Order: sequence, then structure tokens, then C-alpha cells
Amino acid sequence: MPIIVDPDPAVVAQLSAVMPTGSHSVDGTGPLHAWLAHHPTEYAVVLGPGLSLDAALDVAESMRYTRPSTTVVLVRDTIDTDVMYKAMHAGCRDVVRTDDQAQLRGSIDRAQQLWSALHSGDVAAAGGRHGQVITVFSPKGGVGKTTTAVNLALALADKGARKVCLMDLDLAFGDVAITMQLFPTHTIEEAIGGEDAIDFTMVESLLTRHEQSLMVLAAPNLPDARDRITATLVARMMRTLKEQFDYVVVDTCPSFDEQTLQALDETDECVIVATLDVPTLKNVKVALETLDLLDIAQGSRHLVLNRADDAVGLEPDKVEQILGMPIATMIPSSLDIAASTNAGKPIVVSNPNHPASRAFVQLAATLTGEPVGAGEGNDAERRGLWRRNKR
Ligand SMILES: Nc1ncnc2c1ncn2[C@@H]1O[C@H](COP(=O)(O)OP(=O)(O)O)[C@@H](O)[C@H]1O
Ligand SMILES: [Mg+2]
Repeated sequence: MPIIVDPDPAVVAQLSAVMPTGSHSVDGTGPLHAWLAHHPTEYAVVLGPGLSLDAALDVAESMRYTRPSTTVVLVRDTIDTDVMYKAMHAGCRDVVRTDDQAQLRGSIDRAQQLWSALHSGDVAAAGGRHGQVITVFSPKGGVGKTTTAVNLALALADKGARKVCLMDLDLAFGDVAITMQLFPTHTIEEAIGGEDAIDFTMVESLLTRHEQSLMVLAAPNLPDARDRITATLVARMMRTLKEQFDYVVVDTCPSFDEQTLQALDETDECVIVATLDVPTLKNVKVALETLDLLDIAQGSRHLVLNRADDAVGLEPDKVEQILGMPIATMIPSSLDIAASTNAGKPIVVSNPNHPASRAFVQLAATLTGEPVGAGEGNDAERRGLWRRNKR
């Protein structure tokens, strides 16, 4: 699906209105290059008027050699012969005025046709890949599910390098939106009763955009809506999102209700959050056994130990022994995490070099199998992090 590059959300919204459903947007050329590296079948790049002409021409020039079958469309508020000449010289296939919707639409259609002609009719490949669903679960409340889901989704999105949707399935008490300082005008509640009419246009209209190019499907505003959201609705929305996003991260409530079970059933990778206290470990153990019985996410579970440096007389090694699985990531306890939640600015964004942020980025890297953003961090480092923070 085409990608729009512009720092101004209002311009992005204006251009998106004429783009095919499922188009993506980023705010600058850095994330664009990361996006292109992850999406070899991208067929069109739309460079918005908020990009300087020089920056836009640099992109076009480099793509002329590296991605000759991807169409570059330059959008400007005004076009003169100088802009036209430079754009064509750099390899832009079209130059379009910001308010000329018909021409932009035509450019994108031609880009798709060109791609199709050059790649043996395979337009579907340009957008038809299936993404992965990652569900963050724990049978206990307050252990850090939402913190993990939000920061993991942001780390995966990597400022727009990947197309990620965060779905709040804590349907009664969802707090993803508030954790990200979002004020959704639409929520999953509006899809109630629409099980048979779900398509991406409908689901997309319910999403809220976070400034880091992450889309959020917010939970209902009032808890009573939960009982009217059927497991079928959850499943169909997840499948629809999965067709359009690289990753769908699902935050859950701490129980095996029917919607959560359905979500777990639709899941490719399951992140299980535990902390260093016996009641939580006991319940996580029972939850793992339940997942075994239901044959859910066998072989694709990842254990996150949150507050891993709390000195409470239980060591992470013991946790691995009790739960019978290795710890994928340890998140340290830090007042900075609580403060970032309270400020509505998740720590991965507000403080990318924080040990907790590095741990979330490393979790994202484990799940994608490729390095994400700035956080490197190997196994030894992670264990070292825990030891260093231990008092
Ligand atoms: N590692 C941590 N260090 C400090 N505070 C944390 C940590 N993880 C989570 N918190 C805080 O604990 C509270 C509960 O976390 P949350 O992610 O909402 O849990 P859950 O979704 O499992 O109920 C939040 O205020 C959050 O900021
Ligand atoms: Mg939560």
C-alpha cells in the first residue's frame, strides 16, 4: 500500500482521503527509508508538501536506482517549471498539487498498474501480505500488560518503519488510550452488531492515530459495552487488521473470558507477563497449563518478567524453573515507567535510552527476528541489566 511522507498530520489526513484503504504515513524521510527496507513490494511513495524540495528530490534520486519500479509522486502546494524540471530530473514519476485529488488518485492508480506490469500482474503482493498478531496476556492485573503492549507496539512501529495497530481488548477497563494521551472519537464499541459487515474501511474508521505512526483501536468508554462485544466480532476485527498491518498488538484483561480466549486463538505470538510474586507466578502457571490444554500458542510464547529487579527473595532463575519456560525479556522496576504512564508519554518514546526502553526494543527484536531501532542488547546484557539494578 502506498506511503505518504509528511510531518503535518492535517496534510496526511488530506492526502490519505484519496489514497487506497490501508495506506500508511510517516513524518519524515528517516522512517520512510526504514519502511522501504521492510516493504520490498511498496509500489508508491507520496512525498508531501511539508518535506523540503531538496529532501524530497534526494529521496527520488536514491530510489531511482534502488527501487526503480516504485513510483515516487511529489506533492507541492504550487508547481512551477523549475519544480517540474527538478522533479523529473530526480526521477519523480508525477508532480501533483496538494489540492488536486483527482490527479493524485490517478498517479496512485498508474503506480499500481506499473508495478503490476513489472511484477507479472502481482498487485496483491503490494499489499496482500498477512501480518502477525501478538497478544500480551497475564492472568493478573497490575503486572504491566498495558505497559508492555504500548511500549512493544511503539518499538515495533519504530516511528513508522512498520505498520502497527494496537488493539485494546481490555474491553471493560481499557487504558491504552489514556496511557498514550489519546482521546479517541471512535472505539470498538461502534462495531457492535456489525459482525457481518466488517471490512477494512469500517475498521479503519474506528482507529485513532498516535503521533508515532501507530494506529490504536481503543476500548469502549464505558464498561457495560464489554458484554455486547462478541467473540466473533473480536475474531473478525483481528483478521481484518492482520491483513492490513505488519503487526497487530493486542492488550488484554486479566481473565480468560470469551473475547480473550478468541483473541488468544487468533494469535501468532503470545507475550506472557509475570512479576516476582508468588500469587502471580501461581496464576501464570495455571494460565500456561490452560493454554496447553487449549493448544493455544504452543511454541510461540514469550515470557516477560516485569519489575525483574525487585528484591523480594525470588530470583529470575527460579521463575524459569517454576514456569518451565525461559524468560525472553526482563523489564526493571523504575519510577520512570510509572511517571511516563502518568504523563501519557510511553517510556520507549520519552526516554529511548532507558534500560526499560532497551528491554522493550529488544523484545520487539525477538518477535520480529530483526533489529529494531536503536536498542541492541543481547542476552548477557539483559541479565546484566537485572544484576546491575539489583540492590
Ligand atoms: N517496571 C515497572 N516499574 C515501575 N512501574 C511499573 C512497571 N511496570 C508497570 N508499572 C506501573 O504499574 C501500573 C500497572 O501497570 P499496567 O501496565 O497498567 O498493568 P496491567 O495492564 O497488567 O494491569 C502502571 O501505573 C504502570 O506505570
Ligand atoms: Mg492493563
